[in-house]
Formats: sequence, structure tokens, C-alpha cells
Amino acid sequence: MKTLGILGAMHEEVASIVHAMKRVRSRTIARREFVSGDLFGQRVVIAQSRWGKVAAAVSATHLIQTFKCDSLIFTGVAGSLDERVRVGDLVVARRLYQHDLDASPLFAPMEIPLLGRTHLDTDRTLRAMLLKGARAFVRSDASTALDARSRVELGVAKPRVFEGDIATGDQFVSSVKVAQGIKARVPRALCVEMEGASVGQVCYEHNVPMAVIRTISDNADHGSPVDFPRFLQAVAGVYAVGVMRRALASAER
Ligand code: ADE
Repeated sequence: MKTLGILGAMHEEVASIVHAMKRVRSRTIARREFVSGDLFGQRVVIAQSRWGKVAAAVSATHLIQTFKCDSLIFTGVAGSLDERVRVGDLVVARRLYQHDLDASPLFAPMEIPLLGRTHLDTDRTLRAMLLKGARAFVRSDASTALDARSRVELGVAKPRVFEGDIATGDQFVSSVKVAQGIKARVPRALCVEMEGASVGQVCYEHNVPMAVIRTISDNADHGSPVDFPRFLQAVAGVYAVGVMRRALASAER
């Protein structure tokens, strides 16, 4: 059976998935714990990458090189960059951009020097699996997965699922001005986060299919430092394991 690697930046998301796994074994490498086992019938290895592009790249490299994962999924939260995309919605990435990579005028803005790419594509099959899982989760589970009070307090009404571009950079965005700057560089970005495109680059260089799913935790504005931790505690773990359960239920193995 093939092995799926899963990464999340936050303890809450990874812990909720590990909790659902069977026959777990753990190994610590490079200050992170890699947990292998069975997740809803799929062989997986999961790790908490921690935040940022370097941490995510190290984690992804170990999943590929040390644990021989055949494909990778990054699950996490993100700040919205699009007024249609609201807190509680889910975004499945189509293209990933490193919005803070700029070696101009030697290379085009965001071009990864000597790789000849300004964006990384996610894998069509994995993307379809996540979209299917996210839609099933939203349709059947989301309303009962969260208690009514959390839903009202966090403003998570009827979650929707989007497919589109994601901007990645080593920056937690908490200002409209900064968000607008990123949007100017990546006009079609639906949200911003800190790991996706770096995992995309590692996977591209190793020829390993990958995909990213993000739940919107904040609007990448002045409210982000408050909204983000509240959301993380109440929602992120519930969504992460709920979507994976639905996604893996429909997956061909
Ligand atoms: N992940 C979640 N919210 C974010 C934000 N506002 N900026 C960057 N990464 C995030």
C-alpha cells in the first residue's frame, strides 16, 4: 500500500489526526515527531512541521526521503485575501506562490531562482480527493462538529469550499496594507499562509504529488492576532480530522 505523508503547522491539527490513527509508531528526527500508522484505512506518516517555509521544507524532505511517502498533503489554517472567502471556509490550493521570494531584477518576482518556476502546481488527483472530502464534510458533518456557541462566537456560519491559488511567505499577516501588497503580487490568491509553497517546491524537486487544504481562521488584518488563536483552539483540529476522514473514505488505494 502506498504511504501518504501529512503535515500540519499546528499542534491542534496534528494531534486531532493522530488521535484518530491506529497502530501508531513514533520517531523523532530533527526536533519533530513523525507518527506512522493507519488513518481511516490509509497508511500515513504525519508530523507537525512547525511554522514557516524552512520548517515545512525540512519536514517534507524527511517524509519523502526518510519515510518514503508517495504523496503529501498539507492541512492547516490561513488568512483570507479575498472578500468572498470568510472565516470557517475551506480552500483547496490549485497553484502555490512564494509571495516573499524576490530576486529581481535578476529573476522575475517570485521566480524560484534556477528552478525556472514562479508557482508550484498541486496534484489534480489529490486536489480532487480533498475537494470531495471537504464538500462532504461541509455538507454532512460541519454543523454538528462544532458546538453552537463556538459557531456564533467565531462567526462560522455555513462553511463553503473554494479551489484556487494560495500565497505563502515567512510572515504572519495582520495588516490590510500588507495583505493588499501580497494581493498585488498574487492577484488570484484566495488566502495567505506560511508553508504551502515551500512544501510544493520540495515535492516538485522530488517529483512527488502534493496538495494543500486550508481553513480560513482570520482575515489577515488587525483582528488576526485575536481571531487566529481562538479559531485554532475551537475549530482547526475538528476540521482537519473531519475533512481527512471524508477525503480518505472516497480515496482509491
Ligand atoms: N495562517 C493563518 N492566518 C494567517 C495569516 N494571517 N498570515 C499568515 N499565515 C496565516
